[in-house]
Amino acid sequence: MLGALDPKPGETLVDCTAGLGGHAAAIATRLGPTGQVLLVDVDPANLAPATDSVRLRSGAPQVRSVAANFASVEAITAREGLRADLLLADLGFSSNQMADPLRGLSFAADAPLDMRLDPSLSGTAADLVAALPERSLADLIFELGEEPLARRIAKRLVEARRTEAITTTAQLARLVREAYGSRAASSRMNPATRTFMALRIAVNDELGALERLLDSIERGAANAASDRESWLSPACRVAIISFHSLEDRLVKRRFRAIAKSLETRGAETSRKPVEASEEESRGNPRSRSAKLRILRLRGRC
Ligand SMILES: C[S@@+](CC[C@H](N)C(=O)[O-])C[C@H]1O[C@@H](n2cnc3c(N)ncnc32)[C@H](O)[C@@H]1O
Repeated sequence: MLGALDPKPGETLVDCTAGLGGHAAAIATRLGPTGQVLLVDVDPANLAPATDSVRLRSGAPQVRSVAANFASVEAITAREGLRADLLLADLGFSSNQMADPLRGLSFAADAPLDMRLDPSLSGTAADLVAALPERSLADLIFELGEEPLARRIAKRLVEARRTEAITTTAQLARLVREAYGSRAASSRMNPATRTFMALRIAVNDELGALERLLDSIERGAANAASDRESWLSPACRVAIISFHSLEDRLVKRRFRAIAKSLETRGAETSRKPVEASEEESRGNPRSRSAKLRILRLRGRC
């Protein structure tokens, strides 16, 4: 990714998904002390370690951080008086969030069925499971989780909630397993995997936030190309890493549309996403499903 983004001394990085700051720190070393880094994350708990990991680099750029959803990153960047030369979004959750039992993102440990990345959100996964009509629950699990047994799972959840409140990850995992019945034994992955993913995407409105980020990128790119005020610099490089085909489809389509409409100004996007090598996938199993797409507002992909 570093090679594709080509960070240069004095440039500004806006990292929409700071996480623990791994990517930002790697880029920061190339920006040097005259560069700037704006770290954004919906999870305020991640911003302190992310800021430290950038600051601790030798010759670190100036760093500031804002706890917010990247759906509003355009306004935040403008408010901070910055213009992004490099824009990064590494979607989803960080390893510490997944490992935190209180978040309820994983079926590996019993925990409250929460799943919020942003603690200020009001609705949890338990609220969705308790309130959605069977049909809507089935659609959600099918569309966001691409779960073929979504209807059976929704039926089992609705049956169960008549007699017990479904409030923990262990309950949800058990009920999904029951809905799978004998098919659980032949399932390659834990039967609850897709249902958990669907609920996490819904609780955090992950596709809605991504659409709003892409709207901001499109607007910023058009303004930058017409020499109007923009939160993106005219030579901005944008990198989005997604882990889900629904996300990747949104990114691919929008990057292509932007590159096409600004073709005469030199905008480009790579035809194919960059995927993890065998070696990377072995070291970091989550990277197996990662797809990196780059949009360059001016030149050479
Ligand atoms: C995969 S991690 C990022 C890891 C980071 N690139 C690193 O190197 O450590 C994703 C991060 O994005 C954050 N996040 C997810 N959705 C977000 C959103 N809509 N707005 C802002 N941050 C978001 C999560 O809280 C999490 O910290």
